[in-house]
Amino acid sequence: MQSLEELTQEAITLANGHSVPLQPAPLSDSVLEVSRQMMICNGCRYCEGFCAVFPAMTRRLEFGASDIHYLANLCHNCGACLHACQYAPPHEFMINVPKAMAEVRKDTYTAYAWPRSLGVLYKNNGLWIAMALAFGLTLFLQMTANFLSGANSVALDLSNFYSIYPHNMLVSIFLPIFAFVLFSLFMGVSSFLKDIKQATSVQDAPPIAIAIAAHDAFKLKYLGGGHGDGCNNEDDAFSKLRKYFHHLTFYGFMLCFAATSVATLYHYLFGWEAPYVYTSLPKILGILGGVSLIFGCAGLFTLNLRRHHLHGDPTQKQMDIGFIFLLFMTSVSGLLLAVSHGGTSMPLLLSLHLGVVMALFITLPYGKFAHGVFRLAALIRFETEKRLPSNIGLSGE
Ligand code: HEM
Ligand code: HEM
Ligand code: SF4
Ligand code: SF4
Repeated sequence: MQSLEELTQEAITLANGHSVPLQPAPLSDSVLEVSRQMMICNGCRYCEGFCAVFPAMTRRLEFGASDIHYLANLCHNCGACLHACQYAPPHEFMINVPKAMAEVRKDTYTAYAWPRSLGVLYKNNGLWIAMALAFGLTLFLQMTANFLSGANSVALDLSNFYSIYPHNMLVSIFLPIFAFVLFSLFMGVSSFLKDIKQATSVQDAPPIAIAIAAHDAFKLKYLGGGHGDGCNNEDDAFSKLRKYFHHLTFYGFMLCFAATSVATLYHYLFGWEAPYVYTSLPKILGILGGVSLIFGCAGLFTLNLRRHHLHGDPTQKQMDIGFIFLLFMTSVSGLLLAVSHGGTSMPLLLSLHLGVVMALFITLPYGKFAHGVFRLAALIRFETEKRLPSNIGLSGE
């Protein structure tokens, strides 16, 4: 029985008509596995038109760590190449590009987390999410209980959540956390960009490359499955459902963000204090965003449970589902809070909403959210590299 390495060498020789040496040792197992698979794909090229990964692959003959980190984050895990591949398991070449790419993607999030030591939180992400949720809920339930049992409780106005948590108190709790989230994501993605620039030329991205990459990310072009019919989920059939549910989730999140930004402007620029009426801009944006998030998350959750067992990295299910759960709970608790004005449930719902928001925020830089910024960075480098002469002949690193 031949070893996997020997089989790979044989497949490359068959496909290319010549032998290309595999990468030497210091690369991690997950990087080596993608490198092995890319060498075979580079000979086969059946999936050339499917997504950005294959055109980026054909620009290379060898694959160093930076190349693989870049390709892994270009992959949108649409599954099209797995379902199309004649060498997919149970074939002995064991080609499963989405799984191998997903494993490297998680390694890049871990390696480039800021501070680096917190990258370990990706290892057991479900536990980290559960701990963050327990912390957030305990903190706000306890603070609310203290308020209600203390002398201040006479000031309680059930139609005004600021009577429990004054605006300045909320700002002083959430603003530093939000600033930390932005800073750590920025630091993480900057180190990642520095790494993949080695593979995609040192040239800075021209504005047109940034614009096209953003357009492709926001439209989720590469969840199109190559022919624009959508991606694969549980079988060979193409479906656009994952793309549509992601749009509901992504744009729902953005609408909630816009609602909070508009409310902040109202508060500081015009002195208009919340709670706002249902016809106000922050309320309309918030309710639209919340409803969109609920449908988006419910859809993504259902599709995730039904996904083909070979599709992606099963060890990351807890990270994916944990993130979907936090987004879902944030929107449900926010909407319940918004309709509870004047009701006796307001203090409980407010504590739940703030507790879940706290858990969502502190897990953002060390969880699934990283996929958005890392993919956007990889797409920007793809659009930059596309405009340069071919890399073939350059070193794989
Ligand atoms: C800085 C952190 C946040 C604070 C202090 C906060 C606080 C609040 C409060 C007090 C309300 C009730 C508003 C009202 O009834 O007029 C609310 C509603 C809501 N929140 Fe949050 N929230 C935060 C972050 C988020 C995030 C990140 C999301 C979603 C991802 C979200 C989703 C919602 C939704 C959907 C509503 C109901 C619609 C609305 O009233 O705008 N919240 N939030
Ligand atoms: C540049 C922006 C983004 C891009 C290009 C992008 C792309 C993708 C892709 C391709 C997937 C499926 C593959 C995978 O599981 O990794 C995915 C999954 C997901 N995305 Fe995004 N995303 C972006 C931003 C966001 C944002 C801002 C949110 C919400 C706050 C979000 C929520 C999710 C969720 C919940 C999943 C998990 C779905 C599942 O496991 O089935 N994404 N994203
Ligand atoms: S995934 Fe399979 S079919 Fe597609 S290029 Fe690679 S080896 Fe060929
Ligand atoms: S899973 Fe989809 S996005 Fe990833 S390499 Fe295959 S075809 Fe491209």
